[in-house]
Amino acid sequence: MYLLAIETSCDETAVAVASYDDQGHFAIVAETISSQVDLHALYGGVVPELAAREHLSNLPILVEQVLLQAKIDFDKLSCLAATRGPGLKGCLLIGLDFVKGIALARDLPWIGVNHIEGHALAPFIDNPNLSYPYLCLVVSGGHTEIHKVIGLGKYELIARTTDDAAGEAFDKSAHLLGFPYPGGAQLAKLADTATSSSFNLPKVMRHDQAFSFSGLKTAISLLIAKNKERISADPAIKAGLAFAIQAAIVEALVFKVKVAIEQTGIKKVAVTGGVAANRKLRAELAAISGIEFFCPSAQHCTDNAAMIAYVAAKRIITSERANFTDTAIARWPIETLGVSK
Ligand code: KG4
Ligand code: ZN
Repeated sequence: MYLLAIETSCDETAVAVASYDDQGHFAIVAETISSQVDLHALYGGVVPELAAREHLSNLPILVEQVLLQAKIDFDKLSCLAATRGPGLKGCLLIGLDFVKGIALARDLPWIGVNHIEGHALAPFIDNPNLSYPYLCLVVSGGHTEIHKVIGLGKYELIARTTDDAAGEAFDKSAHLLGFPYPGGAQLAKLADTATSSSFNLPKVMRHDQAFSFSGLKTAISLLIAKNKERISADPAIKAGLAFAIQAAIVEALVFKVKVAIEQTGIKKVAVTGGVAANRKLRAELAAISGIEFFCPSAQHCTDNAAMIAYVAAKRIITSERANFTDTAIARWPIETLGVSK
C-alpha cells in the first residue's frame, strides 16, 4: 500500500510517498522538499503569511513531482497524511486542507500527524536496528526537548526549553556575529575552523530539569559586544568566539542528555531536528560511553515529509482515522498523545 504525506508546519514544503503494510514494513519511495530559507532571509526570520503563501503555490507542484518520481498516481494511494501541529497555524492549514481535499475527492482515510512525534520517530527511517525505548533529543529552530520514547504515541517528557530553542541560540549568536539568517550552520562552520578558544562562557542549566538559553544568550551578546572591534580586525578572533559559542550550546545539550541517561537508565540515545546536523553535537553524543547512538540522515533530521509518512503508516494500522473537523493545533506537546488502539 502507498501513502502520501505532506509537511508544511514552518518554512519547508515537503512531500513524500511511502509504501507500508500492516506487518510493519515501511519504505520511502520518493520525497521532495522546497525550502523557503532565501525568502525569509530577506526579513531575518520566518514571516508566517509569506510562508503560508509559498506552501499554497508549492504544494500542487511538489505533489505532482513526487507522484511522478514514485511512478504512481492518486488511484494507487491508500492513505494520506499532513502535519497537524505544532507549528504556524496558517502554514499547517495549507497542508491539512490540501490533504482533506484529496481525501474527500478520492474517498481516502487520512491522518493528522504531530510534527514532534515525526522528529522523535525519524531515527527509525534510517536505522532499522533501533528499538524502543530510547531517549530522543529533538533540537531545531523551534524546539529543544528530550523525551523518553516508549512506543508509538507514548512519550515521557524529560526536559523542554522554557525560552529559546537551541537553533535560535545558534541563529541569534550568528546574527550578532554578522551572519545572515538563519546563520546556525555558518557559525558552526566557522567554529570548526578553530581548535580552541581563549573566550569563556558560563556552564549553564546545571540545576533545573528544563533547558533555558536566555542566560547563555545574554553572556554571548555581552562577550560579542565587548570584542566588537577585535572581531572586525582579526578573523581568528571571530572564529574563536564562534568556537566558544558552539562549545557552550553543545555542552549544555550534552549535559542534559547525560542527566537523562542517569535518571532513566536508558542506554539508547537519538538526536533529531536541524541542530542535529551540528558535527560537534553528534560527535559528543556519540562519544558518551556505554550508549548506542542513533541519528537520522541529514535530510531526515531537518523538517521533512518522510517522518510524517512514517508516523502516519504506524498510526493508520492501529485503525486511527482523522475527521474533517480536525484542524491545525499550534501547540501540541507529544506527551499528551496516545494511540487509538
Ligand atoms: O529542523 P529545522 O530544519 O527547522 C526547524 O526549526 O523546524 O532546524 C533549523 C535550525 C536552525 O536554527 C539552523 O540554524 C539550525 O537548525 N542548524 C544548525 C546547523 N544546521 C542547521 N545549528 C547548528 N549547527 C548546524 N550545523
Ligand atoms: Zn521540525
